[in-house]
Amino acid sequence: MVNSPLVQGTKLARRFGTGSTAFVALHDTDLTIHQGARIALTGPSGSGKSTVLHLVAGLDRPSSGILSWPGLDNPEHHPGLVGVVFQSPSLIPALDVVENVELVSLIAGVSPVQARARATAALSILGLMSLADQLPEELSGGQAQRVAIARVLAGEPRLILADEPTGQLDRDTAAHVLDILEAAADSSGAALVVATHDPVVADRYPHRWSIEDGRLRTDAAATIHTAPEQDR
Ligand SMILES: Nc1ncnc2c1ncn2[C@@H]1O[C@H](COP(=O)(O)OP(=O)(O)O)[C@@H](O)[C@H]1O
Ligand SMILES: [Mg+2]
Repeated sequence: MVNSPLVQGTKLARRFGTGSTAFVALHDTDLTIHQGARIALTGPSGSGKSTVLHLVAGLDRPSSGILSWPGLDNPEHHPGLVGVVFQSPSLIPALDVVENVELVSLIAGVSPVQARARATAALSILGLMSLADQLPEELSGGQAQRVAIARVLAGEPRLILADEPTGQLDRDTAAHVLDILEAAADSSGAALVVATHDPVVADRYPHRWSIEDGRLRTDAAATIHTAPEQDR
């Protein structure tokens, strides 16, 4: 299982609605995400980027086709090792930063001591410990998004999916947030897929997926980002 792809999709389609109002957002799509991959998912607004990420995250199900997570512990249903960063950080207003970051571990049943340790480790790795006691309302947009990334990192993800994570940020702040996102992926060894309609953001990643007319085109190299370490 060491070199199994994290995610494998074959002939995926996602249709919304039924009958004459049915809309095909995605069709005829094959995809593979290997461990440690770095992929930009590009396409204009409305092209289907979020649809793809929601399927890969297991937040949505394909209308047809086969989707599995062979490189995660349970290929039928991934066990929460996929962390998602949305355009808006959606922190819980009543909790301070470290509490927001540890919540994911507490919900997963991790002990409070361990959850706090994971949260402070994630904040430290990303250089955010100075924000630990702040409330979300005291943070700038860029700071809040960095905290949302720390929250994903604290979940010890194998795959990080970011859906236009810098869509609401100015260019300089965006670059800093993307640095943090890549640091989170590097430190956890997670694969990273970043959906963006911004070519400057997409240029940061070695592999490019694009969506045209509801069909995902993957660059073949994206599927072989990491060579197998060894044959068994
Ligand atoms: N729940 C839904 N019901 C109906 N149509 C949807 C739904 N979600 C997405 N769509 C449609 O699917 C297409 C792709 O949407 P989306 O994946 O959000 O694109 P992107 O993230 O690239 O902006 C759009 O035309 C959108 O209107
Ligand atoms: Mg979207």
